[in-house]
Amino acid sequence: MVRPADSKLRAAVLAATGMVGQRYVSMLSNHPFFLVTVVTGQSSVGRKYGQATASTNLPISEETKRLTVKATSPDSLDNVDVVFSPLPTEIAKTQEPQLARAGLRVITDASPHRMDSLVPLIVPEVNPDHLEILERQRRARKWKGLLVATPNCTAAGLALVLKPIHDALGLKRVVVSTLQAVSGAGYPGVPSLDIIDNVIPYVKEEEEKIETEPLKMLGEVGNGRIAPAKFEIGAMVHRVATTDGHLESLYLETEDRFEPEKVARILSKFRGEPQKLKLPTAPKEPIIVTRLEGRPQPKLDRYAGTVPGMSVVVGRIRKGFDSKSGRLTLLSHNTIRGAAGSTILTAELMYKKGLLS
Ligand SMILES: NC(=O)c1ccc[n+]([C@@H]2O[C@H](COP(=O)([O-])OP(=O)(O)OC[C@H]3O[C@@H](n4cnc5c(N)ncnc54)[C@H](OP(=O)(O)O)[C@@H]3O)[C@@H](O)[C@H]2O)c1
Repeated sequence: MVRPADSKLRAAVLAATGMVGQRYVSMLSNHPFFLVTVVTGQSSVGRKYGQATASTNLPISEETKRLTVKATSPDSLDNVDVVFSPLPTEIAKTQEPQLARAGLRVITDASPHRMDSLVPLIVPEVNPDHLEILERQRRARKWKGLLVATPNCTAAGLALVLKPIHDALGLKRVVVSTLQAVSGAGYPGVPSLDIIDNVIPYVKEEEEKIETEPLKMLGEVGNGRIAPAKFEIGAMVHRVATTDGHLESLYLETEDRFEPEKVARILSKFRGEPQKLKLPTAPKEPIIVTRLEGRPQPKLDRYAGTVPGMSVVVGRIRKGFDSKSGRLTLLSHNTIRGAAGSTILTAELMYKKGLLS
């Protein structure tokens, strides 16, 4: 049920004119818990949000289009209950702790604080229990606010698929090769003459993130500390000329037998806390298993499921070299499940747990 606008929490979207920022603003139009009251930017400061994003093809509410883009500072965020932060990396590094210190509750898509032992790195279906380290964060940092992070766009879909497999079979080693969309590089991103008719087998610092972030998310939490999961991940990344949706091909080695039919059942039955709580941005099936030939494909499957862009689609589940290994392909929408959508779902979970008030 939609709550009246005046009882919603006030939300700020930082870097709201960017690829991820626009996703936020669009997904938060008519949200039952949050109302966007502040948008920030850099070159667009002082302009109406609707003018600054005139070329977007995403639906944006008329109310938000009328907001004036502000600079990012604790003053401009006064009276805000939650801050969604897809700030550029270098700015996020210094600004996000300042905002948290000033009393703001910040959830970030940027990378600098993801591996900080005092910052929970959350995919809400994977590790909602890691939010418990916020108590230690508050005591250690003496922040009046808080900082929570969302993983790298490729690591988000990967962790979601690895979670039920690790719980059921125990992972020993994962090798992942990615085909990543151009929107993952932001706007204007990769020069068109570099990417049309081409594949670039490199994305700066991406492999390191894919190899470490899922281990933190799949780690065990206790006494405010996270012990990372013990298996190994090896990543090989490629930028390709698709617009949205990162495709990932996985080779997995497991402790127990890898039986493709059983793995398909485990993945399609997987549900997390967001599904149990029926959170507004929670897809009914976080992982959709497709048996169609040659799927998943970015063009056909990136918006599959009840909340477009929030389900990861898995196909081509098959055996590896021996009985304890297997292969599969997954597709995850990078600006939705890999950024804005996942972060909004985290905020919904935090709202339900009373962490935003
Ligand atoms: N793209 C993805 O798939 C993805 C996925 C996960 C995480 N991320 C992370 O999300 C962040 C944003 O990525 P993006 O793809 O949205 O980048 P983007 O399209 O290049 O947008 C960056 C935006 O940042 C704004 N900006 C720059 N300095 C600012 C400041 N001091 N205060 C407020 N806004 C400022 C700019 O606003 P003006 O237009 O006003 O100059 C610009 O619109 C990055 O940290 C990225 O690593 C991206």
